[in-house]
Amino acid sequence: MKYGYFDDAAKEYVITRADTPLPWINYLGSDGFFSLISNTCGGYSFYKDAKLRRITRFRYNNVPHDDGGRCFYICDGDTVWSPAFLPAKTALDAYRCRHGLGYSVFEGAKNGVSAALTVTVPMHTDMEVQKLVLKNESGETKALTVYGVTEWCLWNAVDDSTNFQRNWNIGEVEIEGGTVYHKTEYRERRNHYAFYSVNAPVDGFDTDRDTFLGRFRGWSEPQAVELRTSFGSVAAGWAPIAALRLNVTLAAGESRTLLFRLGYVENPPEKKFAALNVINKEKAHAMLAAFETEAQFDAALAELRSYWETLLSRFTVQSSEEKLDRMVNIWNQYQCMVTFNMSRSASYYESGTGRGMGFRDSCQDLLGFVHLIPERARERIIDIASIQFADGSTYHQYQPLTKRGNADVGSGFNDDPLWLVACTCAYIRETGDFSILDEPTPFNNETGTEVPLLEHLRRSVSYTVTHRGPHGLPLIGRADWNDCLNLNCFSLTPGESFQTCSNFESGKAESVFIAGMFVKYGKEYAALCDRIGLHTEADEVRASVGEIERAVLIHGWDGEWFRRAYDAFERPIGSRKNAEGQIYIEPQGFCVMAGIGGADYGRRALASTEKLLGNEFGIEVLHPCYTEYHDYLGEISSYPPGYKENGSVFCHNNPWITLAYCTVKDGNGAFDLYTRNAPAYIEDKSEIHRTEPYCYSQTIAGRDAKTYGEAKNAWLTGTAAWSFVAVSQGILGVRPDYDGLIVDPCLPDSMDGCRLSRLFRGTRYDITVRRGANKGLVVDGKAVSGNCIPLTSSPSCLVELTI
Ligand code: GLC
Ligand code: GLC
Repeated sequence: MKYGYFDDAAKEYVITRADTPLPWINYLGSDGFFSLISNTCGGYSFYKDAKLRRITRFRYNNVPHDDGGRCFYICDGDTVWSPAFLPAKTALDAYRCRHGLGYSVFEGAKNGVSAALTVTVPMHTDMEVQKLVLKNESGETKALTVYGVTEWCLWNAVDDSTNFQRNWNIGEVEIEGGTVYHKTEYRERRNHYAFYSVNAPVDGFDTDRDTFLGRFRGWSEPQAVELRTSFGSVAAGWAPIAALRLNVTLAAGESRTLLFRLGYVENPPEKKFAALNVINKEKAHAMLAAFETEAQFDAALAELRSYWETLLSRFTVQSSEEKLDRMVNIWNQYQCMVTFNMSRSASYYESGTGRGMGFRDSCQDLLGFVHLIPERARERIIDIASIQFADGSTYHQYQPLTKRGNADVGSGFNDDPLWLVACTCAYIRETGDFSILDEPTPFNNETGTEVPLLEHLRRSVSYTVTHRGPHGLPLIGRADWNDCLNLNCFSLTPGESFQTCSNFESGKAESVFIAGMFVKYGKEYAALCDRIGLHTEADEVRASVGEIERAVLIHGWDGEWFRRAYDAFERPIGSRKNAEGQIYIEPQGFCVMAGIGGADYGRRALASTEKLLGNEFGIEVLHPCYTEYHDYLGEISSYPPGYKENGSVFCHNNPWITLAYCTVKDGNGAFDLYTRNAPAYIEDKSEIHRTEPYCYSQTIAGRDAKTYGEAKNAWLTGTAAWSFVAVSQGILGVRPDYDGLIVDPCLPDSMDGCRLSRLFRGTRYDITVRRGANKGLVVDGKAVSGNCIPLTSSPSCLVELTI
């Protein structure tokens, strides 16, 4: 069953009923100011950091799930309704939510009045703008009372939801005409304030939430709205809000446009105040002046649209597969931008208060983003590398605002360092910018420790080489990619973190997965060294790659698939010798991509993977699921069977298998797996899948779960980047390389060819792939041997590939 449809021409997903199984959200903002917005207009905003600069309040685990957020009330006679259904919950005569790229539109109608609400964060401004167009289609005059309301968060989202003995004393606002300024803590150490404003004289306001709502009431039925009034309350502590009221009379056929603006401002210390404890509002005034008229708003929306047109035109495909085209050309790339911006910080499932930017997560997110805005990828690589330690190990996470490593979680995730090699090599292949390797980059953000970025990569590689266990395989540390396979944890204390506790440091547990990563990215590092003339180093690294590859062949191959690990007692994990968890997905993906054991082992590993781990929605993490808790395995065995790392389809690593199929040239296998969980392909199972049909989720419950097929944790997942890599570089086969653009598709038999367009190093490549007898590559009319289109200085290039 579906709850809407794709409008490909408009690049929108159109939701046609408000009662989606879960809030279906969108992300607004491209730079500093970000908002999450659901299909019923819920959500929240923050500036750069969802923990430290939360602008509006959101209650996770609220009932109903999505209450509060952007509250609009339209009072018409006895009826009060909201354009996006919530919070008023009055049944509407018409409802649509159109989620577009960086904006969302809500179209509601009731009793002859229509409301079209368009919400976006315009580029180059720290402000969300909400355009509300009311139209009287009833044939008679309507006297409406309209409210726009927002609830402030007291900046630090953790304190805001915990430290009430303080919070309920500090809230402060200023009111100036139709603008409410939120200035809690500005009087002392904060240099920032927020505002909510409408571009018309208001007929009343409230800034104290409990006065506005009234006792025993929630957002669906505020007292002020019921009485069609405002109390003019001025917040003093408690919960400050901005509730703006306008009386709007519309003659038959008449319409009226209002612009509500939610902004964030920082002032330098010497310019904080206009008078004693009165904020300097100059910047806010300028921001409001820039969005005073509908024309200004429409121009900003047009700019955003054309920004996205340009970005998405960097890679496009036209094929016989409408759903694949839709994912590649629009939604998958859009999600790559969102994961680049958010890492795993702020969604409806990630509270924005815990994990900030993940080291491995952000490195992997870059793989699907680097072609969009390489300059931002470059900056990110340096930020990430700056939390690495001198011995090559690294903090696992950092806070986006401070860019400092998160000491609570610390380090010891032994796959982390190698992801830096992966994303840096991808960046250089995309851009040809070797100068990034010379960029002075500190360790642990300490001034004075800067070394060229290349040195960071070198230490990443040597960290793996020098941290090996009894079988010559890389030590796993606290965990590798699979955060929940905690082989050195041995936790028996409830509530203890599986990732950070240290009850038992065996110094023995090893990861075949990291070995696969090392073979793949070690080779890439060696190739990079050769490029920059470091041939001796390249040879040394290749020798280590050879050693680890041999260790995998001897100790990592189980007969029909790759093993996963060795535990603290040197026993294999992911082996037929185990009662449960006999096979895991990760090493099948990485060892096959790395070419360990060649196509023969590759095909056998993939056949076992499909046979033992395959289900209708993809490949499960492991099989059989763990049915009881084992302290020597850690968090993985804490999840009920079929959920999360214990045997769900963890969408993130499914594209590794797709790429593994491409490695062994099995186009049918690659495409078949791709379609099993690509959102557009499973749109018609939305009542089972439950999360948004236009973005990937982290997991889909496995066969052993009570809710097989149900997805969880939409949006912030490495699935976005890896799926884009799998489809664009694997199935469609367009791969940037140092010397040119490789075109090496691995199409299923059901596809006869496709047309691709790729902007690469300043040249637009228009590529036609078709099947035929005269196989080979023709570039601008000339046959080229191999599958790499050499670099050219011309702005465009016509390519024909016959496969
Ligand atoms: C989550 C984490 C990621 C980890 C994965 C598997 O997606 O963000 O870092 O690799 O889970 O445990
Ligand atoms: C990853 C895993 C999750 C685990 C978490 C710990 O996100 O997916 O299961 O609880 O890491 O940080």
